Parts: sequence; C-alpha cells; structure tokens
Amino acid sequence: MNIIEVENLTYSYDKNEKNAVDGVSFSVPEGKYVTLIGHNGSGKSTLAKLLSGLIANFEGKITIFGKEVKKNTIHEIRKKMGLVFQNPDNQFVGSTVRDDIAFGLENRQVKSEEMDPIIDTYSSKVGMKDFLDKSPENLSGGQKQRVAIAGVLAMHPELIIYDEATSMLDPVGKKEILDITFNLRNENPKLTVLSITHDVEEAYRSDYVLVMNAGKLVLQGTPQEVFAHQEELRSIRLDAPFFFSLKQALLNRGISIPDEIDTEAKLEDFLCR
Ligand SMILES: Nc1ncnc2c1ncn2[C@@H]1O[C@H](COP(=O)(O)OP(=O)(O)O)[C@@H](O)[C@H]1O
Ligand SMILES: [Mg+2]
Repeated sequence: MNIIEVENLTYSYDKNEKNAVDGVSFSVPEGKYVTLIGHNGSGKSTLAKLLSGLIANFEGKITIFGKEVKKNTIHEIRKKMGLVFQNPDNQFVGSTVRDDIAFGLENRQVKSEEMDPIIDTYSSKVGMKDFLDKSPENLSGGQKQRVAIAGVLAMHPELIIYDEATSMLDPVGKKEILDITFNLRNENPKLTVLSITHDVEEAYRSDYVLVMNAGKLVLQGTPQEVFAHQEELRSIRLDAPFFFSLKQALLNRGISIPDEIDTEAKLEDFLCR
C-alpha cells in the first residue's frame, strides 16, 4: 500500500514565476524510509508544504493514507502525520519544552496522567530531558530541532515528514537522531518516513531516494540506482556518499566490496578486519 501518492503535482507561488514544483509524480510505500535530496531552491520545502496541506490551490493530485488531500480531509490526515520543518522557531507553541511536547499529545487526546512518561521517554531519546522546564526560546537551533523531533515522535505518527529536521545539528547529533528514527522503524515496521535532507549519507542509508532539481523530479530509485548517476548528480551539484565513492574507487582497481558491507557502521568492521 502506498502511504503517499503524488500525481503530476505543479505549483507556483507567483503565476509570473517558474513553477516551484513542476509536474512531480512519485509514491511512498508503507514502512519505507524515503529521502528527497536536491540543491537549494529545487522545490523540496514547497513539496513538503503541499503534502502537509499548508499550500492549497495546486494542480495535480496528492493522496495520503488513501485520502485525497483537500481542505476537508487534511485535518484527518494530519492526525496520523508528524511534520518537522526546516525552521524550528516556527513550530513552538508551549512556554516550556514540556508544555510544547504536551500540546501535541493533548491534541491527540492522550490522558494527562499518561503524558509525563511519554514526554520523559521521548525527551531523553533525543537528549533533551534536562531541558523540559526551559523555555524553547532559550535553546540553540540544534536543541530546538531535537525538541521538535521529540514532539513528533511522542505522537506515534504513522507518517513522518522531516524537512531538513537535523540541519542545525553537528554530524554526531545528526547520526544520533537518524539512528533514533531508524530504530523506531524496527519497533513499528509500518512507520513511513519521507526525509528531505542535504545529507547524502542519510539518503544512502534510506530505502529509496528522490532527487529534485528546479522543481522537477529528475531521478528516483534505490540508493544504489540513484548514486550510480554520478555525472548527472554532479551536474546538479550533489555529491555521492562517501562509502559509495569509496566502493566505486576500489572497484575501478579491481577490488569489490561485498554488498552486505554497506553502511558506515559496517565500513568500520570491514576496515578493522
Ligand atoms: N514563500 C515563497 N514565496 C515565493 N517564492 C517562494 C517561496 N518559498 C519558496 N519560493 C521559491 O520556490 C522555489 C523552491 O523553493 P523551496 O521549495 O524552498 O526549495 P528548497 O526547499 O529545495 O530549497 C525557489 O525558487 C524559491 O525561491
Ligand atoms: Mg527547503
């Protein structure tokens, strides 16, 4: 079953300008972790806004959880969907971190006595438990992103859309948050993720990769398929993941790395042998 289906989606902010999203079609099957990569201005955030119903009057069709996205359906769809946007400042509603996470839970009718353990669990998962009584205003960008992610995960969404949700974290923090999301999928194999990212390493770890350039979807496929298009990716200013480049370089010298050795972590094992 497809959780997201997008058909011929087109949108321009201004009729005199070129389309920000231009004839895009793709689908995201249930339980998959799909990444969307593309250079700045390629239309990724616009697509995220369209999927989350923040922009109406588009051309084409968006279906999420089998329901067409429209004014009268988006509320229902949003209940099962967790969104983390690029700029964490626009997402806070509570006066403390705790209130903020609680607000989302209240919206899902979680009983107040059940809230504290949930808030504790998810704030500690993202390393923000010590900040629960602090005001979100006083957090760094990266800490705000951690809180926004905790808030979304606490709501047990069936679909998560991240729009550069970890862009303000350092590489270790990024990996930490990524691992949390990947691990959640072990607990709930039906959890579907669409992650818009600049991180090609994340794309390389995902199940499926979408590539946008100038509003258009220019490539899509498994990481292996997509990153094989090195020339095309370079022409739209995207790099190949480190491990992929290394594998190719070794292959050119007649050394092949078995497919099962395929992620950053496993690379370390390989080098230690
Ligand atoms: N609120 C807006 N009003 C007008 N144009 C916008 C707005 N937001 C984005 N755009 C334009 O739409 C295009 C796609 O932007 P965006 O979706 O933010 O790209 P990305 O997230 O890939 O960097 C860009 O040309 C950008 O200038
Ligand atoms: Mg963006």
